[in-house]
Amino acid sequence: MSSGLDYTKLFAKDIPGPSSRGEPDPPYNFTYGHGSPDLLPIEGFVDAAADVFRKDGRSLAVYHANGGGLGYLPLREFLVEKLAKHRGIQVTADEILITSGSQQGIIAVMDAFLEPGDTVVTEMFSYAGTLGNLRRHGAEVVGVPLDEEGMRTDLLEKTLTDLQSRGIKPKFIYTIPTLHNPTGRVMGMERRREMLELSRRFGVPIFEDECYADLVFEKEYEHAIRSLDNSNYVLHVGSFSKSLAPGVRLGYVVAPWEVMSQILPFKMDIGTSTMGQMIVAEFLENNFDSHMEHLKSGLERKRDTLIAALKEHFGPEVQPSEPRGGMFVWVRFPEGIDTRKALEAAKAEGVAYNPGPDWAVYADDDERNGMNYVRLCYALLTESETWEGIERMSRAFREAGLT
Ligand SMILES: Cc1ncc(COP(=O)(O)O)c(C=O)c1O
Repeated sequence: MSSGLDYTKLFAKDIPGPSSRGEPDPPYNFTYGHGSPDLLPIEGFVDAAADVFRKDGRSLAVYHANGGGLGYLPLREFLVEKLAKHRGIQVTADEILITSGSQQGIIAVMDAFLEPGDTVVTEMFSYAGTLGNLRRHGAEVVGVPLDEEGMRTDLLEKTLTDLQSRGIKPKFIYTIPTLHNPTGRVMGMERRREMLELSRRFGVPIFEDECYADLVFEKEYEHAIRSLDNSNYVLHVGSFSKSLAPGVRLGYVVAPWEVMSQILPFKMDIGTSTMGQMIVAEFLENNFDSHMEHLKSGLERKRDTLIAALKEHFGPEVQPSEPRGGMFVWVRFPEGIDTRKALEAAKAEGVAYNPGPDWAVYADDDERNGMNYVRLCYALLTESETWEGIERMSRAFREAGLT
């Protein structure tokens, strides 16, 4: 014990609890939304970095080089084209803010909108990073059940009507319509239209998180909700973490200026790394389509491997989802099984996975927390590691008496 300062008396009140130092990741790690080391375009990054530094490197000497506070202009111009071509979204570069990962954009939107006690509506299972930050902002989170097409709009309508009758107007509807995390589901166009109609009817904006939207394995697929709205009902966030790599730490917010101008003051880091934006812009300009084709076919193989391994080692009682893309399989175990009970045995086998309640809005409610589900990420491991990891996981589930 040191005889120095007692910092616990100096920290601000009501800050989050301390982080643990963490343990090294286990060898068979199915958690997080990590990318695939074997599918990274390393040589492309190297060439892009060399080219762009020779061309534009000296602009790194100034803050906000080439583009101001919204981010590096060539990257925003690339996004204008990409969003139009792949997501059906028509915007100008001035409606795009580059952020340090989409997480920073999500938090900046929350900072601009939320006060303690405000209500936010979302899918009943959602991205833990968003749920955690909503709670930190003091928001009341209301979860709407999903089916095979994502959030059920009939139940969303019911939820909004119930809230209205109690005098509550949610600040926004946060949704992950394309390759929803954790379930991997994709919302059909009709349902996207219905959600937008509800947003207009109740005067509640949609906050659309399309972090995984580049990873649908088909060539043509559903456009963003934002593509259906040319007024200002939909705020949109996207990321390069899944299409390139999480270590790139680049994401973006698409919003009309009246909203963007209130989000921008909460991006208090004097700009996202221009160096990273330069390399990514240079790489993507010539390589986006070919890289995505390569990445998606690699991920598709990995998805098939994980599903095959689950069927082989867990047998027919366990039902893995068959996602149309992305990096997660949402696995259903028989009713009544609590998948959290095998976490320790799995750890001893060198395996990590996320039980359903990690993603649940109502995590403490055993009727609604998805305790008989697990989410497995198939991107990180090689195919042989996946086979080995799932065999070990099935052993852990047997040892814990779950199968
Ligand atoms: C739905 C969703 N949104 C946002 C993020 C944050 O990603 P990043 O900050 O790396 O863009 C994640 C990360 O896994 C996610 O799953």
